Amino acid sequence: MTRQLHLNLFIHGRGHHEAAWRHPAASPLALTDIRYYTDLACRAEAGCFDSVFLADTLAAGDDVARAPRTWLEPVTTLAALAAATTRIGLIATCSTTYTEPFNLARQFASLDHMSGGRVGWNIVTTWLATASGNYGGDGPLSHAERYERAEEYMRVVTGLWDSWSDDAVLDDRRDGQYARPGSIRAIDHAGPHYQVTGPLNVPRGPQGRPVFVQAGSSDTGRRFAARHAEAVFTAQMEKATAKEFYTDLKALAADEGRAQEHVLILPGLSPVIGSTDAEAERLARELNELSDPEVGRKRLSGRFGGHDFSHLPLDAPLSPKDFPDPATVQAARSRTEVIIGLVRREKPTLRQLLGYMAGARGHFVTAGTPEQIADLIEDWFRDGAADGFNVMPPVLPAMLEIFVAEVVPLLQRRGLFRNEYGGMTLRDHYGLPRPNVRF
Ligand SMILES: Cc1cc2nc3c(=O)[nH]c(=O)nc-3n(C[C@H](O)[C@H](O)[C@H](O)COP(=O)(O)O)c2cc1C
Repeated sequence: MTRQLHLNLFIHGRGHHEAAWRHPAASPLALTDIRYYTDLACRAEAGCFDSVFLADTLAAGDDVARAPRTWLEPVTTLAALAAATTRIGLIATCSTTYTEPFNLARQFASLDHMSGGRVGWNIVTTWLATASGNYGGDGPLSHAERYERAEEYMRVVTGLWDSWSDDAVLDDRRDGQYARPGSIRAIDHAGPHYQVTGPLNVPRGPQGRPVFVQAGSSDTGRRFAARHAEAVFTAQMEKATAKEFYTDLKALAADEGRAQEHVLILPGLSPVIGSTDAEAERLARELNELSDPEVGRKRLSGRFGGHDFSHLPLDAPLSPKDFPDPATVQAARSRTEVIIGLVRREKPTLRQLLGYMAGARGHFVTAGTPEQIADLIEDWFRDGAADGFNVMPPVLPAMLEIFVAEVVPLLQRRGLFRNEYGGMTLRDHYGLPRPNVRF
């Protein structure tokens, strides 16, 4: 079979454009209404998407009065989505910095059972500095410390998921034997950051472990992804940098002794789709007109770990000197590199930069007809820039509806995307092996 494209739906607010929540094409449902999320997951499933994904932040954000986000907590939301769908993969974000590994391993093992093997974990170390204020710590950990802890964290949770062998559960009612003797073992982990005895108190899930998803793009983030990630989300503003990222990460994965096809790279794509160019451009214009530059300024500040941009005029061209050096930023370092790269190349005004960031926070934004969007997807896919896409509709559900109705059939007709699900688990959809454990 020819290589197949993978599509993930990234659910965020009422769409990825910062002003989507106010646009008439956005859902009338509240962002706290579970029907909003189940409706989106069902639409994506009807379009044979591999998965849906929920991001997470661990603090409210000081622009909250003028900018709502996704509010429901992802792990609990996935439980509802597991019950409302049958085939689509379900990916939730959970933080290695602020979650006890035993809790996380237990929740994801439970979700894997509840969904019949469809769960994925977006491994984040939490870049948002204000999150630390909600967890009683001494302030945010540095970028290096977060990734260092995350390495140990991976050893603990993997040990916990592997603490039951595949054939551990007998559930033999007649002989009174629930589990095979010797098939469940302690992990006795004693490291610098975690001490965990184990075993996990949930039997091994259908996938063995959740699919590991990761989205760090800094040098440290890439090396972490190369070691652990099975799918990688990434924000790229143009095809050239997406290709560079793709080539680099696949090479790093090979250096780790991993098969390159088991590390899928899914750049973000936020398509404004219209039946004509003019219609797509009108929608893009309407969204930009609804944007609030002061919300954008606060978000930019958050990306740079709280750096103050309040003195910068909106309409003067920016220079890289207006930004702190990315190497000193303890927050989302790779995104700061993307932003400064754009400033260096295009010298936008702050208003123009904020307008671009409003589209999808530094991911690739494009406007076009279904045919043009399908061409772009095919081009990136065939030309070594992507194994698929993290689809980030600017307005939900309207732009997802068009994507499923008009773009997906074009990709199917070109033989690039499935017409129906071939398997039951997220590992099946992504073509990933199941880690087997026997002892
Ligand atoms: C598509 C995408 C989704 C992300 N979702 C989250 C998230 O939900 N929570 C979070 O703390 N970070 C999230 N991140 C941020 C990454 O985990 C990472 O911190 C960021 O890309 C910076 O990586 P770096 O520190 O290696 O540069 C996301 C990044 C991308 C590209």
